[in-house]
Amino acid sequence: MSRGTRNKDRRHKLPPEDRGWDPSEDPRWTRLILDSVADGVFTVDREGRITSFNRAAERITGFSREEAIGQYCHEIFRANICFEGCPLKRTAETEESIINLEVNILNKQNQEVPISISTAVLRDESGRLIGAVETFRDLSLIRELHQEISKRYSFQDIVSRSEAFMRIFQVLPDIAESDATVLVLGESGTGKELFAAAIHNLSHRRKGPFVKVNCGALPDTLLESELFGYKKGAFTDARRDKPGRFKLAEGGTLFLDEIGDLSLGTQVKLLRVLEKKEYEPLGGVRTERADVRIVAATHRDLEELVAEGRFREDLFYRLNVIRIEIPPLRERPEDIPLLIEHFLTKLNRKSGKQIKGISPEAMKILLNYPYPGNVRELQNILEHAVILCKGVEIQSSHLPSYLPRLQEGVSLEPSLRGKEILRIKEREALLEVLRRHRGRVGDAAKELGIHRSTLWRKMKRCGIHRDSVA
Ligand SMILES: Nc1ncnc2c1ncn2[C@@H]1O[C@H](COP(=O)(O)OP(=O)(O)OP(=O)(O)O)[C@@H](O)[C@H]1O
Ligand SMILES: [Mg+2]
Repeated sequence: MSRGTRNKDRRHKLPPEDRGWDPSEDPRWTRLILDSVADGVFTVDREGRITSFNRAAERITGFSREEAIGQYCHEIFRANICFEGCPLKRTAETEESIINLEVNILNKQNQEVPISISTAVLRDESGRLIGAVETFRDLSLIRELHQEISKRYSFQDIVSRSEAFMRIFQVLPDIAESDATVLVLGESGTGKELFAAAIHNLSHRRKGPFVKVNCGALPDTLLESELFGYKKGAFTDARRDKPGRFKLAEGGTLFLDEIGDLSLGTQVKLLRVLEKKEYEPLGGVRTERADVRIVAATHRDLEELVAEGRFREDLFYRLNVIRIEIPPLRERPEDIPLLIEHFLTKLNRKSGKQIKGISPEAMKILLNYPYPGNVRELQNILEHAVILCKGVEIQSSHLPSYLPRLQEGVSLEPSLRGKEILRIKEREALLEVLRRHRGRVGDAAKELGIHRSTLWRKMKRCGIHRDSVA
C-alpha cells in the first residue's frame, strides 16, 4: 500500500491536522460531527425544504435522510405548530432564535413524540440569508419519568412529596376501609375537604353519596333541620317532609366541615347520632337509623375549645377516633413547585393556554412566601398569574403585587431560624394585605382565601392590631 492511500484511509477516521487538511473545508467532517450528536439537527433552505438531516433526526422522526431531504419540513414533522406558526419561518422573518420550545410531532409511525426545539438563521459568507437550522431533543424519556414522579407524588388528586403526606398516603386506604369516624385537622386551605373526599372514594361506600355540611355557615335551628331534616307540620312553613343531610348521605359519607363552629346544643344531638347511630327529624315521632360514615374537619384547635368549655369533651373523643393532621404549606416548601405544576396543568386545560412553567425569579418569590391561606392561596395566585400571562412562562410581573418581591443582597439574619423566619414573613405578608384593605379583615381574608376567623387568629398570634393597619 502506498503512503498516499494509507493517509487517505486514516483521514476518514481521524484526520491529522499536521497533514495540511482543513476539516472545516470538508463536508464529510461536518456530517461526522452532526451524526455523532444526540440531538436531532436539520437545515432548510429559504423555501423551507430540508437540506440536511442528521442521524439523531432519523432516529427521533423515524424518517431516513433520503426520505427527508428535499421535503418541506412540515411534511416530515407534522406538528400543530407547523401550520399555526412555523418556528423556522418565524426565525427567518424575525431573525430571532427560538430556544427550547416544546412541541409534539408525529413520527413516521404516526405516534406523538414530544420534542424541544431551538432554531437559528443560516447566512452565507456575504451575510445573505440562505435558510435556517433547527436542533431538537427527544423529550419522551423525560416525560415518562415525569409522569412516573407525578404519580408517585399524588394520591387521589392530592399532590405532595412531603414526608408527612407520604405517611398519611400509606395509611389512608386502611383508614378509608375501616368505616371509623375520621377527624381532619389543618389550617384553612390545606386540603381538608380533599382528604375527606379521598377517604370516601377509597372506602366501600364509594358508590354511595358524599354529602357535605358546613357547620359554621348556618344558625343553630337551621343547621339542625339541615342535618336531621323535618316532618310536615314541624313548624309553620313545613308543608312537606324534608330529608336532612344524614338521610341524603345514607349508604355514603357525611362530611361535617367546620365542626369546631357547632353550638353546644347541636353538639349534644350530633353526639347522640354518633353513639347510637340514630336521630329524630324535627317534628318527627320515629327515630331514623343513620347508615352514614362521618368525616369531620376543622381549622380550629379543638383541644383548646374543649379546655375553654366551648366544645364537649365527649364529642371530641367520639370524633377523634382517627385523626389526620395536615401540616400548613409553609412547613412543606418542597410541595410548592409540585403544586405549581399541578395547578398550571389544570389551569392550562381550563383556559386553553399552553403555559409551560414559571421563571426562576417568580419561583423564588413563591418559595419565599409563607402562605397564610395555604394551598388555596397558592391556587388563587396562579389563577391570577395565568390570566395575566400571554406567553409560555409566568414571570414575576404576573404575580399579585401583594407578594413580597425579593430585594437583591438583602438576606435575613443568620441567627433567625426556621419557624421564627416564617413567623416574621407571615407577619409581613398579613400586614401588607391588611394595609391594602385598610384594616377590613373580611376583605383581606377573602383575598387570602382564608376564613375571617382564621385571619383574626393569625393576627392575634403575630401581634397585629387592626387599628394599626386601618
Ligand atoms: N395537596 C393538594 N394537592 C392538590 N390540591 C390541593 C392540595 N391541597 C389543597 N388543594 C386544593 O386547594 C383548595 C383548597 O383545599 P380544601 O378546600 O380541601 O381546603 P380546606 O382545608 O377544606 O380549606 P378550608 O378550611 O378553608 O375549608 C382546593 O381547590 C383543593 O383542591
Ligand atoms: Mg374546607
